[in-house]
Amino acid sequence: MRLFVKTRDKTYPIYFGTNNCFKIKKILVQNNINPKKLIVIYDKNVPKKIISKFKNKLKDDKNIFLGLNFNEKVKNLNTVKKILNVLGKNNFNRNDCLISIGGGIAGDICAFAASIYKRGLKFVNIPSTLLSQVDSSIGGKTGVNTFLGKNMIGTFCQPNVVIVDINFLKSLSKREMICGYAEILKHSLISDKKFFIFLKNNFKNILNLRPNIIKKAILNSCKIKKSFIEKDERENNLRKTLNFGHTFAHAFESTLGYTNKLNHGEAVLLGILTASKFSNKEKLLPKNELKLIENHLKELKFNNLNSYFKKYNIDKICDFMIKDKKNNSKDINLILLKKIARPTVNNRYSQNKIKKFLVSLIDM
Ligand SMILES: NC(=O)c1ccc[n+]([C@@H]2O[C@H](COP(=O)([O-])OP(=O)(O)OC[C@H]3O[C@@H](n4cnc5c(N)ncnc54)[C@H](O)[C@@H]3O)[C@@H](O)[C@H]2O)c1
Repeated sequence: MRLFVKTRDKTYPIYFGTNNCFKIKKILVQNNINPKKLIVIYDKNVPKKIISKFKNKLKDDKNIFLGLNFNEKVKNLNTVKKILNVLGKNNFNRNDCLISIGGGIAGDICAFAASIYKRGLKFVNIPSTLLSQVDSSIGGKTGVNTFLGKNMIGTFCQPNVVIVDINFLKSLSKREMICGYAEILKHSLISDKKFFIFLKNNFKNILNLRPNIIKKAILNSCKIKKSFIEKDERENNLRKTLNFGHTFAHAFESTLGYTNKLNHGEAVLLGILTASKFSNKEKLLPKNELKLIENHLKELKFNNLNSYFKKYNIDKICDFMIKDKKNNSKDINLILLKKIARPTVNNRYSQNKIKKFLVSLIDM
């Protein structure tokens, strides 16, 4: 099964399946990717069995396999430099290809390196986490963190091919499955109430990888992301909707210094909660719909901020929200919900207003 993402820059396929990553050779040929050299950069947490089988499929002296430990702390320019050095030392050219196997962090870093090396190598993304399969591998946002905040340096550069292989999800922890689920949930809340109800009724089946249910959740999610990207690739307006909950989420993550205490997907769940509550406070999202969202987040055990933040964190959270790269004023710009599946972009609020609101959510 394939889905094509059509952007001004290029049209590229997302392949869906189980064990389809092992068809890599055929997929490269199908997409006119005939590199003289190939580099596969993989996350060392991806099961060795999968990596060695993948290596076998691409056996060739000229191909390079580089395993790295990926996490938010190394999502930086130093790691990009390391990758560029390997490409340079091995004389990679524009027609050569970089394949990334890993989660959103590996994908974002590798895509960024591929997009700037000699102004662009061929890039194939094989996302190995639920989050990266339903979200980060599609849409062409690449980048790394800097002292300025999350994903502050990056490019828009669409991949040549994405291969979504459900087999990777078998080794993911429940915590990581919930993180991916956060982005699926976000997609439903911004565009499809029926899908949201499906998720509410099936989230346990999704987390337990029930084949038909997980496939439907992934495919629907990718279709939603694709539709936003095709209408607004460069995030001039509509694509901003995909950041629902993320202005809060990025500030939460940054405030805690990207520690293991709160990873990206978990921050997104708290961000969805906060943005939904704020939407209701602003008389947009009706109380009954807020309740539906809150109850679902309660089932996922992400229904309050208190376990993560204290009142003294609020100034820092607001500072990060102001610095958010989608923000271009001294006010805070939020994506909110008028209803489930009826988002609204460009809602500006003063820092003071957001501070007071956060104080009301964080008791101590
Ligand atoms: N580019 C975009 O549009 C976009 C969108 C959303 C998120 N993101 C970025 O994605 C990142 C989060 O991605 P993520 O949640 O995939 O995190 P991640 O890449 O850190 O992966 C999560 C964890 O799972 C491990 N892992 C990866 N594949 C595995 C497998 N098959 N089995 C077992 N363990 C495995 C990783 O080593 C890591 O410890 C953030 O940096 C975020 O900014 C980017």
